[in-house]
Amino acid sequence: MSLVVPVILGSVRSDRQGLRAARFAIGELERRGIEAPLVDPAELKLPLLDRMYKEYPKGEAPTVLEDLATLYRRADAFLVVSAEYNHAIPPALSNTLDHFLEEYSWRPSGIVCYSGGQYGGVRAAMQLRAMLAELGASSIPSLLPIPRIGKALDEAGAPRTSGCRRPPSASSTSWSGTPRPCGRSGRRERPTERHRDPGWREACPRVGTDPSRRAPFMSETTTELRTLLANLVRAALMSDDRASALWREATRQGQAKLAAAPARTEGLTIEGFWTQGVREAEAPEYREAEGQVEFGFPALCPFSLAELVAPGFDVDAAVERLRKSAATG
Ligand SMILES: Cc1cc2nc3c(=O)[nH]c(=O)nc-3n(C[C@H](O)[C@H](O)[C@H](O)COP(=O)(O)O)c2cc1C
Repeated sequence: MSLVVPVILGSVRSDRQGLRAARFAIGELERRGIEAPLVDPAELKLPLLDRMYKEYPKGEAPTVLEDLATLYRRADAFLVVSAEYNHAIPPALSNTLDHFLEEYSWRPSGIVCYSGGQYGGVRAAMQLRAMLAELGASSIPSLLPIPRIGKALDEAGAPRTSGCRRPPSASSTSWSGTPRPCGRSGRRERPTERHRDPGWREACPRVGTDPSRRAPFMSETTTELRTLLANLVRAALMSDDRASALWREATRQGQAKLAAAPARTEGLTIEGFWTQGVREAEAPEYREAEGQVEFGFPALCPFSLAELVAPGFDVDAAVERLRKSAATG
């Protein structure tokens, strides 16, 4: 069963550009096998807020609200697409979100922001973060700001240049990338950790005006590498054979993806990713559910990056090697 991530659009102007950003986001989510229905307040003719959905007696809410409530209850996460109006979120977005409350609870959200200018709507996104937290759908750390929306995306939401980054999604951030039940929170990485981390520094070369220096999909590669290592570590940590087999399979899939595109990992080193992967695998939220055996993993990864992403990398042998190199606690 695929994840469900409603894409909530917040502009209703007849000349709005926001549909481009929403279509882009939907395309990227669907490409990852995620069900991403558009919530378009203009198309839905969502009224200005009179009563919140929960204020209607049961069964008496307008159909549009009833349908949205049904959709939101099925949602695993939300992706909110916001323009910037006077350094704030558009009133239509606020109106769209305000109709509901409990229906958002315990699901993470991602923000795609955009503007006609160079800042990509980030000032509005900062306000949106506060609002989403209050609604119970706190946003993940990654943002996807789209500056100069009219030039960046065409009407169908297709990037006009190759420099357009991909949106935050249920498979591209620390919130997932591994099989996790909905509602489980991800670890928030502190900015200082990123800057100290050699893997991160190398993975994020400065983006200048020279297109050859741009690395638009690097953040996806770093996430995939970290997840690959985390899954491998989990496979080694699992005392239960079936649980270990599941993580081994997740590792195989991630490994095959990176092995198929060697250019993506060129110039990277494994050390920073190793530290992050071990930390991710050992996050307290995994401990109880997964029945881990206590290991202390070595500070340095026992494999080189070249070994890890080589075709034919033997996951079972790697798990055994990890178990041997780990100190039992
Ligand atoms: C009322 C209004 C206020 C705006 N304020 C800002 C702003 O503060 N910062 C900015 O970068 N762009 C601003 N813009 C330009 C929008 O970024 C641009 O028009 C964008 O396409 C709006 O999204 P929409 O087309 O989906 O409505 C504003 C546009 C409108 C209509």
